[in-house]
Amino acid sequence: MTTQDDIKKGLAGVVADTTAISKVNPDSNSLLYRGYPVQELAANCSFEEVALLLWTGELPEAADLKEFSEFEAAHRELSPELKAVIDALPTDCHPMDVCRTAVSVLGAQDPASEEDSQEANLTKSKKLFAAMPAVVAYDQRRRRGEEIIPPRADLDYCDNFLYMTFGEVPAPEVKKAFQVSMVLYAEHSFNCSTFTARTIASSLSDLHSAITGAIGALKGPLHGGANEAVMETFDEMGIRKDESEQEAEKRAKEWMDDALAQKKKVMGFGHRVYKNGDSRVPTMQDALTDMIKYFGREEMLGLYNGLAKSMDEAKGIKPNLDYPAGPTYHLMGFDTQTFTPLFVAARMTGWTAHVMEQLADNSLIRPLSDYDGPEERHVEK
Ligand code: ACO
Repeated sequence: MTTQDDIKKGLAGVVADTTAISKVNPDSNSLLYRGYPVQELAANCSFEEVALLLWTGELPEAADLKEFSEFEAAHRELSPELKAVIDALPTDCHPMDVCRTAVSVLGAQDPASEEDSQEANLTKSKKLFAAMPAVVAYDQRRRRGEEIIPPRADLDYCDNFLYMTFGEVPAPEVKKAFQVSMVLYAEHSFNCSTFTARTIASSLSDLHSAITGAIGALKGPLHGGANEAVMETFDEMGIRKDESEQEAEKRAKEWMDDALAQKKKVMGFGHRVYKNGDSRVPTMQDALTDMIKYFGREEMLGLYNGLAKSMDEAKGIKPNLDYPAGPTYHLMGFDTQTFTPLFVAARMTGWTAHVMEQLADNSLIRPLSDYDGPEERHVEK
């Protein structure tokens, strides 16, 4: 008989499979991608190098990186058909709906969509990696009524992403912070969206279907949608550009005390696995601080520290990656609703690596449930 102890609600604490892609260690607050600490990768590697590391298991040699970069640059353009599908979507739908739809269309358009060899899946992964920045940039610009900017093959992934979104090659400081965020968001073992992708792949469905499902899972505010929700909190408090850091911090503390008194869940805090702090936060916090200095927006630091200090003092709950990422993207000029699509572009690497790993040693994912509905009964007519 199933006891209450046998039921692992939310699969909390359940080890569902092995993975060689990343190791999350909550005791040491560390995160390794294929053995490398994520902080070292963020400091020393391009996002393209990290993508290849996640897919292949090794950091690339120069020739392999060059070959991939050329492939990526050649696959950035969206087809006229995909642009027409995006254009047909309302400009007030959520950008995550656009990402989900775009990946579905890219799957339908890919002649190798039904091929399931590891080689075919790696190529599909690289194409999705290349196309996502164009989807995200296209959508933000069409919403703003701005002219669409085609990709530039002479720019690397991050420079081109920001160029297509804002029409300018970013300053090196901005590019660096953006690249750090992409690397930190790239992979995090069996989180909700990655497990969704693996579950879909486990039925031997195709890679694009798995990624479409993962995007749906990421959209929720308990997962990727939290980076957007963090900014909504900042907006609710009110961002006052003329406010001093100290005044902003005081106001943020009061806001948090009030929110906690009302038993509100504040997005950007807490984590299912890390209970003493998310390993990615210090690196992302440094990137945020750099952006605050670069844009001269010290009041944002006050709001950021005020909320975090008050939450820590009241409940001992630490920020997760979404907390510093949200305001960083805001300072760069992204619309709040575009934040989670940026997470999609980054996590495309981890998701696709997991789909390939799942398929390399597949077992259909199908847990049991304990029935607690009505006893057997019969139709009376
Ligand atoms: N704000 C206020 N209280 C919180 C928060 C929060 N953000 N997170 C946890 N708590 C409290 C809960 O209210 C609960 O308190 P209680 O025991 O008094 O009822 C306790 O801490 C445990 O919380 P759970 O939700 O049960 O913890 P769980 O491990 O299931 O949840 C989760 C983790 C879903 C991330 C949770 O912390 C949360 O909802 N956070 C906000 C959403 C968020 O930021 N998500 C991003 C995750 S990271 C990422 O996707 C990159």
